[in-house]
Amino acid sequence: MSFTNPVRVGFDFGGSLRREASLIQIERLRKCYDALVAVDDVSFDVHDGEILGLLGPNGAGKTTTISMICGVLQPDGGRVLVDNRNIWLEPKKVKMHLGVVPQEIAVYEDLTARDNLSFWGTLYGLSGSELGDRISESLDRVGLAGRAGDKVKTFSGGMKRRLNLCMGLLHRPKFLLLDEPTVGIDPQARLNILEVISEVAAAGTTVLYTTHYMDEAEQLCDRIAIIDHGRILALGTLAELTKRAGEAEVLRLSGRFNDESLREHLAAITGTRILGLGDGSAVLAIESDGPGLLGILPRVLEADLGIEDVSIQRPNLQSVFIALTGRELRD
Ligand SMILES: Nc1ncnc2c1ncn2[C@@H]1O[C@H](COP(=O)(O)OP(=O)(O)O)[C@@H](O)[C@H]1O
Ligand SMILES: [Mg+2]
Repeated sequence: MSFTNPVRVGFDFGGSLRREASLIQIERLRKCYDALVAVDDVSFDVHDGEILGLLGPNGAGKTTTISMICGVLQPDGGRVLVDNRNIWLEPKKVKMHLGVVPQEIAVYEDLTARDNLSFWGTLYGLSGSELGDRISESLDRVGLAGRAGDKVKTFSGGMKRRLNLCMGLLHRPKFLLLDEPTVGIDPQARLNILEVISEVAAAGTTVLYTTHYMDEAEQLCDRIAIIDHGRILALGTLAELTKRAGEAEVLRLSGRFNDESLREHLAAITGTRILGLGDGSAVLAIESDGPGLLGILPRVLEADLGIEDVSIQRPNLQSVFIALTGRELRD
């Protein structure tokens, strides 16, 4: 299969003309569970060779989206094109090029790591020494070479997750979909998984990575799509997202203040926007075109309202998420 991808013309951050080839095009995907709209008109492209992060809290619609992209869940509307092919119309041709690492670990506990991979590789048409070499190579890559002959039921959660990753990589897919592959594991296993994904992407694989961890999205992903309540709220590089959120900084206040008195006081200060207020804390956006932090902070503190602590946050995904949704994205 040759990859003659659609070419999209766009403008990069510096304003010059840029051509992006997109391996994956997701158009107006929709999925409902009775009255609940789990995925609501979701569209985005994944460019060749990039790591695109799908960041959102639990229940945002990440797994539902990824399940429709890899063809295990039928959408109620919209379509997915992989290299210009519709996965529902040509499932076999498309699925051979997809590697999927599901949120729920899909390994056979009573088989060894090697036998799990062997079973999986055979499904993708691998056999003989090629299969054996790839199994050894992938186990080595995730640091499990020494445990190849052990039954998976003796593995820790982090080891099972690393094996799960191997299963998605064995057939060297052109496009790798990972659904929260680092949830509930130790820091070392997490680091290993993130390193392997970076290596695989650097070698040319296109990656879609879902997470609710902002630090992972910031560190790993070339572009990030923020999803909440089934909708994509923003998509771009970290720099684009923080710029679009329109704030220079986020200011956090805590203390024993009266919410309404504080709200009234802050409303009179230009250049601030209240993002959250209640339970002894307030979160303010400092607008980038206002007087700035140094102009605003003395005015915030001039009234004796019971503010006990002030912290300043540089723009990051947390402040972008707060600006978009009015609430924080917590681990
Ligand atoms: N099989 C299902 N039946 C009913 N509701 C579901 C089902 N799967 C997911 N949902 C609901 O759809 C929404 C999105 O879920 P999901 O895609 O799993 O979110 P995420 O992966 O971001 O945590 C949630 O409100 C969830 O409860
Ligand atoms: Mg999920």
